Amino acid sequence: MVKKNTCVFISGYGSNLRHLIQSSRVNNFPIRISLVISNNKNAKGLLYAKMNSIPYLIINTKKRNFENKILNELKKHKISFICLAGYMKIISKKFLQLFTKTIINIHPSLLPKFKGLNTFERVLKNKEKKTGCTVHFVNNKLDGGTRIIQKSFFINKNDNEKILKDKTQKLEYRAFSEAIIKIMRYN
Ligand code: GRF
Repeated sequence: MVKKNTCVFISGYGSNLRHLIQSSRVNNFPIRISLVISNNKNAKGLLYAKMNSIPYLIINTKKRNFENKILNELKKHKISFICLAGYMKIISKKFLQLFTKTIINIHPSLLPKFKGLNTFERVLKNKEKKTGCTVHFVNNKLDGGTRIIQKSFFINKNDNEKILKDKTQKLEYRAFSEAIIKIMRYN
């Protein structure tokens, strides 16, 4: 099996990146992490790229030609699949057109509920019975692309935002890898 060269975009801690790197080490896992891109030079997740000798690029999204820089790097590393793992920037329309059905994102709620930020706070305020995570294709609507996989759990009476985040992230690590396997099966 030929593994797809994949780029993971991050902005922060990178725990999803860490788990994707682990999954990608398994022989028949369909992707190889060939590049990591961060818009934050202090992102802790960059450490996982460094520790695993994965090339990485830090971009400054305030600079006008930052997207061309990304495109050049993707070309250089023959990237054909992109995972957004805690990437806090919007992907432009032009970029999306170049990568239709090849960019996926992980979101910490059961979409279409709670798109955007501060999901755990809103889940608690809304007195939801269940929450979880969603892996979905990225389109030009915020957290709005076709859903690939969702995983959920029941909320306990004493769960606070931190507990919800921990429980959700544990599910995210499995959901991301399973979603990748699922979509590659049909490619
Ligand atoms: C994840 O919880 C994901 O759902 C959200 O951002 C978080 C990133 O966490 N989009 P990490 O950087 O992978 O630890």
